[in-house]
Amino acid sequence: MVKAIVAPSILASDFADLGCQCKKMYANNADWLHVDVMDGHFVPNISLGMPIISSLRKAIPKEYNEKNENIKFFDCHMMVSEPEKWVAEIAKAGGDQYTFHYESTKDPVKLIELIKSHGLKAACAIKPGTDVDVLFDLGDKLDMALVMTVEPGFGGQSFMANMMPKVEKLREKFPQLNIQVDGGLGKGTIGHAATAGANVIVAGTSCFTASNPTELIQYFKDEVNK
Ligand code: DX5
Ligand code: ZN
Repeated sequence: MVKAIVAPSILASDFADLGCQCKKMYANNADWLHVDVMDGHFVPNISLGMPIISSLRKAIPKEYNEKNENIKFFDCHMMVSEPEKWVAEIAKAGGDQYTFHYESTKDPVKLIELIKSHGLKAACAIKPGTDVDVLFDLGDKLDMALVMTVEPGFGGQSFMANMMPKVEKLREKFPQLNIQVDGGLGKGTIGHAATAGANVIVAGTSCFTASNPTELIQYFKDEVNK
């Protein structure tokens, strides 16, 4: 069985207090930090880039468990028009996983190879309007697939439950693959995602506004492991 992974999206944090808030999320038992990089072109918003990621990495150094997994994992969601261009820089800044959008590249296979050649895990995201079938040929090459549950670009949007058939199809074909959902995840929507087969849960607004984030993160994990 794939394991539950909870990845708070730092887009919802207070950027003036970023290092502190991110450390707290790990203390709250978050597994990864989800880092949303937006270029104002692929999506109609600009968020953060390399200087922030490398500063955050200095504040939160990589730390390995007995399985040699970095337990301070940075999951970089690249909402950019030229994903090939930033792979080396994300690796240098201290990222661990590089999620590109299927819609943003002409040659996803070549891009996956490039990402892996930089020592990063490779993941592919699809927007709500993109058919899940495009991931079927890539699944075996990927460390993770991301099914967007909102239009990428902004935090705080409503979860699109009608994306769940995509998750179900992917889970059926790839029982061991990390399948991530991103957008609108909270206590009221996690059930849909977990039942469909998602195991990597991104949550921005819900995590960063929770009165008890530790309890919320555990709730997400329990729903996935049910
Ligand atoms: C949207 C981003 C998400 C966003 C999720 O483009 O990819 O990661 O931060 O935020 P919430 O959890 O608030 O919907
Ligand atoms: Zn994201």
